[in-house]
Amino acid sequence: MCGIIGCVSEKDCCGALYDGLKRLEYRGYDSAGIAVLGEKLSVCKKKGGVSALSCFFAQGNTGIGHTRWATHGAPSDTNAHPHRAGKIVLVHNGIAENFSALKAELEGAGECFYSETDTEVIAKLISRAYRGDLLSAVKEGLSRVEGSYAVAVIAEDRPGELVAAKYKSPLVAGKGAAGLFVCSDIPALAGAADFIARAEDKDFIRIGGGRIEFFDENLKPVSRTFFRPQKELFALSVAGGGYFMRSEIAEIPQALGRTLCALGQADFAPCARALRAAKRLFAVACGTAYHSALVFADIAEASLGIPVICHTAGEFRYRPPVIGEGDVLIAVSQSGETADTLEAVRLAAERGAYVIAVTNIGSSSIAALADFCLVMRAGAEVAVAATKSYNCQLLCLYYLAAQCLFFKEEKYPDWFSSLNLLPAAAEEAFSRFSEIDGLADRLKGARAMYFLGRGLDLCTAKEGALKVKEIARVFAEGYPAGELKHGSLALAEEGFPVVCVSTSGRLAKKSENALAEVRSRGGYCALFSQYEEVLSESCADFKCLLPALPEALMPAVSVIPLQYFAYKMCLERGYDPDKPRNLAKSVTVE
Ligand code: F6R
Repeated sequence: MCGIIGCVSEKDCCGALYDGLKRLEYRGYDSAGIAVLGEKLSVCKKKGGVSALSCFFAQGNTGIGHTRWATHGAPSDTNAHPHRAGKIVLVHNGIAENFSALKAELEGAGECFYSETDTEVIAKLISRAYRGDLLSAVKEGLSRVEGSYAVAVIAEDRPGELVAAKYKSPLVAGKGAAGLFVCSDIPALAGAADFIARAEDKDFIRIGGGRIEFFDENLKPVSRTFFRPQKELFALSVAGGGYFMRSEIAEIPQALGRTLCALGQADFAPCARALRAAKRLFAVACGTAYHSALVFADIAEASLGIPVICHTAGEFRYRPPVIGEGDVLIAVSQSGETADTLEAVRLAAERGAYVIAVTNIGSSSIAALADFCLVMRAGAEVAVAATKSYNCQLLCLYYLAAQCLFFKEEKYPDWFSSLNLLPAAAEEAFSRFSEIDGLADRLKGARAMYFLGRGLDLCTAKEGALKVKEIARVFAEGYPAGELKHGSLALAEEGFPVVCVSTSGRLAKKSENALAEVRSRGGYCALFSQYEEVLSESCADFKCLLPALPEALMPAVSVIPLQYFAYKMCLERGYDPDKPRNLAKSVTVE
C-alpha cells in the first residue's frame, strides 16, 4: 500500500533510496519516484516499477522515495510521488479521507493542482504553513488531514533536514553506516540500517545534524527505543531462484524449522491466566491470514470445547460489539500492519478483551498493541501472495491451541508432538511438484474453477482458490463440498475444473460424492489426499498423494501443492507471480 523512504546521509543518498525502494516494491508497483536534494533539487518520477528509475542519478545527501499503489488517480508519471508544492517535496502512504473538501478549499484560495492525488493536497497545506521551520509546517499542514498517513517531507531550502510523521500508516526510523532513514518497513532497510525505532501514531520525526529526533503531537521531544531488528527479516529468500514467490515456497521447510525453534523458546506464561479463564476465543485476520484463523477456530474449538468465533477483520470491526472482558482475541497478520486487523485489535482492547497477536514482524503495530505476541519468524516475505507465512502462521496457531488446552486441562492434544514433523512433510510435498506442472498445463486455459473441501480441508480449499485468483487471474471459489448440489453444481459442464482436498478419513466419502456429481456432468476433477485408498477409489482425473500427518495438521502441508499450482498457472498464463495485478502487500488502508 505504497512504500515511502527518506534518507539523510553524509554522502550521496540516491543509490540508498533506489535500493530501499527496490526492497519496498511489494507495497505497490504502479509508479515510483525519488527526490534528491543537494546543491539543487532533482526529482524523477515515473509510471511503472522501481526499475523505471534505474537510470536516474542526482547528487545530494538528502532525499525521499516512493513506490505507489494507486488510490486517488490512475498510475501515471504525474500522479507518481514525490509531490511538490512551493519549496515542499513530499511522499505519502495512506489516504487523506477529507481531500475533496480540502482541495476545494485550496482551489478557492487560488491554488492550482497538477495531479489527481490526495497527496498533493497535503503538500500544498504544508507549503502554505512553511516559513523556514519544516517541523512546525508539517505539524500545521497535517492537522487539517483526516484519514491515515505516513509522510516524509523535505524543503528545497533546507538540505540536510527531513521531517516525517505518521498516523495509522507504518513508519520506522533507522540508523546505520549508510545514513539516517525513515521507511515504511524494516526489511527495506536491510544493509542500510543496523538499529530501528518504531514511530507511534501522531509522532513526528526530524532527521538532521546527524541525529534522529522524535516528537509527540505537540512537538514535545519523546524517546523511542532503537533495537536491532529480527535478523531473518533482512535475509531475502533465494532458494529456488527466479521469482520471490517460488523461493518463498522453496523456503517453507526452513521457515517452519525456524518457527518451531522460536515456539520452543517462547514463554507462554504471560498469557496463561487469560487463556485459562477464557470463555470464548475470537480469531480475526484478513485474506490468507484469515484462512489460517479458520483452521485455528476449527482446531481450538474441537480440542477446547469452547466457542471460537472467527471473522474477517474488516467485518469484525463493524459488527455490534459482542466482545469484552474475559474474551481473548487472536489477531493473525503476517505484516502486523493490516489496517482492518489493527482496528479490530484496537476495538477488542478498548472493550477489555485480552489480545494475542500472531505475526511475522515483532516490531509491528499489531504486535505493539497486543497483550501477548507470538512472532512466527517466517523471514521476509516479499512476494505479494503469502505462502511460507501461511504455513508458519498455522504452526504458531497449532501451538497456541495446544497451549490453551494445556492451561485449561493440563494436557496437550494428541497431534502436538507431530508438529516437529512439519518441516520434513513440507519437503516431501515438493516431490509432487512435477505432477502439479502437468495439472497446471492441463488447466491453464480455465476461466473458472472450484476448490472443494470439508472441515479443515475447506480452509485449504479457500486458500488455494485465493492464490489462483490472486496470481493466475482465474476466477476460483473455495467451497464446502457438501454445498455443491445446493446451487453451484449448475456450473459443472464438460471440462469444468474442480480441485478437491480430502484429508479427513471421516469425510472422504462425502467429498468423493461431490466429485462424482461433477464428473458425471463431464467436469475435470483433481483430488489431493494422503490416503492411497481414497485416491484409488476416486473417480478423479488427477490424483495427488499428500505426505501423511495427523489429520489435524494436514492444512499446513496440503496447501503446498496448491500454492505451487497457483504459481505454475500464473506462469503458464504469462503473468508475474510477484506482482499480481491491482494488489500490494501490507494493506495499510481500509
Ligand atoms: C494473499 C495475501 C493477503 C494477505 C492479507 C493479510 O496471498 O497475502 O490476502 O494475507 O492482506 O495480510 P497480513 O497477513 O499482513 O495481515
